[in-house]
Amino acid sequence: MSQVLNKESEKYLYQQVIDMIKKMQKSDVLRVGDKLPSLRKLSQQLNVSIPTVKLAYLELERQDLIEARPKSGYFLKGQANILAVPKRCRLTKDPIMVDRQHFIEHIFNAINNPKMVPLGISAPTAAYSAEKALARIMRQVLTKAGEKAVSYAPMDGYPPLKRQLALRYFDYGLQVDQSEIIVTNGAQEAIAIALKCVAKPGDVIAIESPCYFGIIELIESLGMLALEIPLCPVDGIWYQDLEKSIKQHNVKACVFSTSISNPLGSFMTESKKKQVVELLESHDIPMIEDDVYGDLYFTEKRGMPAQKYAKKGLVLSCSSFSKTAAPGYRIGWLLAGKFSDKARIIKRALSCSSSLINQWTLAEFIMGHQYDRYLIRLREILKCNKDRMLAKIQAVFPKDTQVTNPQGGSVLWLKLPNNKDAKELFYQAIEENISIIPGDVFSPSNRYKSFIRISYGIPWNKNIETALEKLSSMCKIL
Ligand SMILES: Cc1ncc(COP(=O)(O)O)c(C=O)c1O
Repeated sequence: MSQVLNKESEKYLYQQVIDMIKKMQKSDVLRVGDKLPSLRKLSQQLNVSIPTVKLAYLELERQDLIEARPKSGYFLKGQANILAVPKRCRLTKDPIMVDRQHFIEHIFNAINNPKMVPLGISAPTAAYSAEKALARIMRQVLTKAGEKAVSYAPMDGYPPLKRQLALRYFDYGLQVDQSEIIVTNGAQEAIAIALKCVAKPGDVIAIESPCYFGIIELIESLGMLALEIPLCPVDGIWYQDLEKSIKQHNVKACVFSTSISNPLGSFMTESKKKQVVELLESHDIPMIEDDVYGDLYFTEKRGMPAQKYAKKGLVLSCSSFSKTAAPGYRIGWLLAGKFSDKARIIKRALSCSSSLINQWTLAEFIMGHQYDRYLIRLREILKCNKDRMLAKIQAVFPKDTQVTNPQGGSVLWLKLPNNKDAKELFYQAIEENISIIPGDVFSPSNRYKSFIRISYGIPWNKNIETALEKLSSMCKIL
């Protein structure tokens, strides 16, 4: 910032600083998510006092143009969403047998190419990796423990890791005995065990709509039926729809994201969470809560696990470190409520135990307080990427595009303009080395034909902006 302020002008100096920053934003020199110079640096550059710059920043903050992030400085904020948020989908009449696996596999084979701009994959740690810190810890563990670190772990998990998990639950106001925690191979295995605990083939499982496709695949492979309950883009499941579905169908269990959902990025409020748990427990229906994105919130506070509101032990909590530390470690966990004994037997039968060295490394990562510091930074980066991506979409996509404004997580959910077919866009994008996920995979009943999911959980660069421009032109050609 080498501009010179006019000290002779009648305009206050702080106002001139404001004008300068707005001008730089308008001419695209400063972009959403960019960090502004520190007070000291800008005061030196412009040869004005620190209080003058401070006053300018405070005013820009008041105008909602910049935001102060604790211990990080001031950043240019994303502007209010000018595109609409996707509307609520209709309630399905009946549960259905799921048949999506081939299609999901087909999509994954197509996007599994390292040359792609990876907008299809939701692996938020790619935006800011913990790999180096984890690798260092792992080397230390191996040096210290040798062979022991790579032998079998106790069946339900490495005790120091379970203790750390119990302490984290304690922080949320939940008293969990560490013996209740079962460490699993990712959240996917935790959800599979939970489903096997509470339902059998042919049973009806209520799921969110749109729903993370891994859960749809799981229900299919277990021979269960899926009943789609519409999800509100802001605060999770539509309560009235859930109530109605329970009255009409013999719902055996539910699988819901209780903090941040994928792909909508909605954030279930505490009151709604409590209401949902009470409703389900009053009908003796177990709820499997998928909390994998719980720590990636952009709201002031983390959402509490729904487990906190369970009175009858009917909430089974599933989570993992896949979105918050290392997806390849495949470490997740399950808190199975009153189904603990059954869950332990299923875990043993399925996979005996989960990788000891990975659990050990994660336990040390948490104990050394690096994990919490890492999460703070990861959230900041994701929030900043989200603002940048939304700003770019608003700038280049036609006005009838609809897009969510997620309250956490790492993905956006877009309704394409001109009712563009998402599958067609998917194939066009693949040709251009861009991966996206078409909406159909998020529903067992093939809805969301003109929706896509794109990820901002990647290191931000020019290629992403170019990819968004290309996607938008593909949508404009009819
Ligand atoms: C909503 C949701 N639940 C569960 C999972 C599975 O998590 P894991 O990789 O820990 O098995 C994912 C992974 O993408 C997810 O997005």
